[in-house]
Amino acid sequence: MPNTVLVTQPLPDQYLARLAEHAELDVLDAGESLSDPALGTRRSACCGVVCTLTDTIDRALLKDMNMLKFVSSVSVGVDHIDVSALSVRGIALGNTPGVLADATADTAFALLLAAARRIAEGDRYIRDGKWTASNRWSPGFFLGKDVSGSTLGIVGLGPVGQAMARRAAGFGMTVASWTPSGRKVPGVCSLSLEALLATSDFVSVHVALADTTRNLINGARIATMKPGAVLINTARGGIVDESAVAAALDDGRLFAAGLDVFEEEPVPADSLLLKHPRVVVVPHIGSATASTRLKMADRAVVNAVAALRDEPMPYCVNPEVYAAL
Ligand code: GLV
Repeated sequence: MPNTVLVTQPLPDQYLARLAEHAELDVLDAGESLSDPALGTRRSACCGVVCTLTDTIDRALLKDMNMLKFVSSVSVGVDHIDVSALSVRGIALGNTPGVLADATADTAFALLLAAARRIAEGDRYIRDGKWTASNRWSPGFFLGKDVSGSTLGIVGLGPVGQAMARRAAGFGMTVASWTPSGRKVPGVCSLSLEALLATSDFVSVHVALADTTRNLINGARIATMKPGAVLINTARGGIVDESAVAAALDDGRLFAAGLDVFEEEPVPADSLLLKHPRVVVVPHIGSATASTRLKMADRAVVNAVAALRDEPMPYCVNPEVYAAL
């Protein structure tokens, strides 16, 4: 069957219909995954894959995918994919930039506020029946940290980091950043990573996961953070050392943490982080609004359709594959 595209998760009908104008679609069922051994011939027959961040695409998987011409991921992050393994074979990889910065920054800021003001902890307190007449209110009850007037240190000043900076400015925070690219943004003070960690009341992580950022916020760096700081991560789990975060919460170096992403997802039920009352967790929902997910699906389909027409993908992670065209 020529031009078969494997779609690993059902997209909204209108996007599947657009793809179907250009290719046969093989949409995986809920129980199936791209790496299933049973998928063998369906995998090797496809010229394209439309996937999500839960699909690991590495050299081993690519071995029997001899027809593959493109991968279009419905995500901005591509750490689930071995990009160089695709590039050496001239396989284009598309992602979905430019549409999820606001939704993700909203999630990061929601975690920041919830962690600072102990919102999830307060919610559990009431539901667990602990709010009683004898402890109804007192001057020292459920004290949190001020957001206004404090300093936010942003690690990674791409579109999500910049959207976070805009929100922080609106809340009267001083905004500092360290970013691997050295990018400068008006109103945001550029610092070394060391200075940012030492002086920020809140640190929010917005770099992509790559070899250079894996374990960037490690135990040694967490130990240099301002005492009583709050750490927020909506980027990727592998950037932050989770056991160091748990230890820093225990010894009081960190006041709280807000996490949308984890080293292992779903986060194991016995994770030390889940035992800590000051950790606010959500299940990797940074970009999860209906309209953002539609825009991401649109970008992924635009990329796939371009590839099916032998045109360059408009949102291509490895444009070097087109150098020979
Ligand atoms: C979400 O985490 C994404 O990379 O799109």
